Amino acid sequence: MDVIVADYAGFCFGVTRAVKQAREAPKPVASLGALIHNRQVVEQLAREGVHPVNSLEEVDSGRVLIRSHGVTPEILAAAREKGLEIIDATCPYVARAQRLARKLAGEGYQVIIVGDPGHPEVKGLLGWAGPGAVVVPHKEAAANLPFHPRRAVLAQTTQPEEKLKEVAAALRSNTDTLVVHNTVCQATRQRQEAAVNLARQVDVMVVVGGKESANTRHLAELCRATGTPTYHVERAGELCRQWFINARRVGVTGGASTPAWIIEEVVVMLAEEEKVMFPEDEKEPVKAPEGADFAPAGENNEIE
Ligand code: F3S
Repeated sequence: MDVIVADYAGFCFGVTRAVKQAREAPKPVASLGALIHNRQVVEQLAREGVHPVNSLEEVDSGRVLIRSHGVTPEILAAAREKGLEIIDATCPYVARAQRLARKLAGEGYQVIIVGDPGHPEVKGLLGWAGPGAVVVPHKEAAANLPFHPRRAVLAQTTQPEEKLKEVAAALRSNTDTLVVHNTVCQATRQRQEAAVNLARQVDVMVVVGGKESANTRHLAELCRATGTPTYHVERAGELCRQWFINARRVGVTGGASTPAWIIEEVVVMLAEEEKVMFPEDEKEPVKAPEGADFAPAGENNEIE
């Protein structure tokens, strides 16, 4: 069984930068929300003195770390008013989308954000996009919007580009003047393209990353859409032998918030599995025991 890792996988530029800033910050430091959507990294950072808090109300003094997802201008102002030292780890790609949203709102456009309304990046972005801004998770929601003379569309940085195109197409029927800005970041684009290319060449895909991580879930969605059985795991311990029975080529990728050591752990475990499943003196793969540890896509490894 060949195990192939995607050309682009794991920590992106923005996450690497945020983790570095967190590590270099004087301790203790309160991180406004979990620094990244990866439990293992967040736990490791907590041991180093980076403590996640849910809101500014929990921080009376000291320093606060703004994570790569960014926050609203109101939250930044409130932190300043409290006299907190701000360590701003907002990813430059997110900051660029925030500035763009503010500029477009100032020019009189209704800003449409393509993304997940519950995602922290989108909640932050909304704060920069003016009072009339709307979050649109898919083309159907865009088609249902009432008529507006001037709209500008941009996207959560980790959305699939295809979704941005679909939403823009849907908005053409209910908007007079429509401008579209592709704010999907390069790291997302590279990881998505590499994952899809690999998924087309293998029998099974394993996508490694936090179940909370939007970009990891999108990677799994895109790989699954190629028709290749795809499993989303957080750690190597979740791998099930039955997923790989008869698989000769297995692809592995990881979301932008997945550290290299977790991807490597999966690759090593798959290599070990190969020795069990394809012993050199057996022609046929060993059959995995029935049942218990088998979790087909669509059940506990389904995209939430
Ligand atoms: Fe930034 Fe893109 Fe990563 S927006 S945090 S480089 S996924």
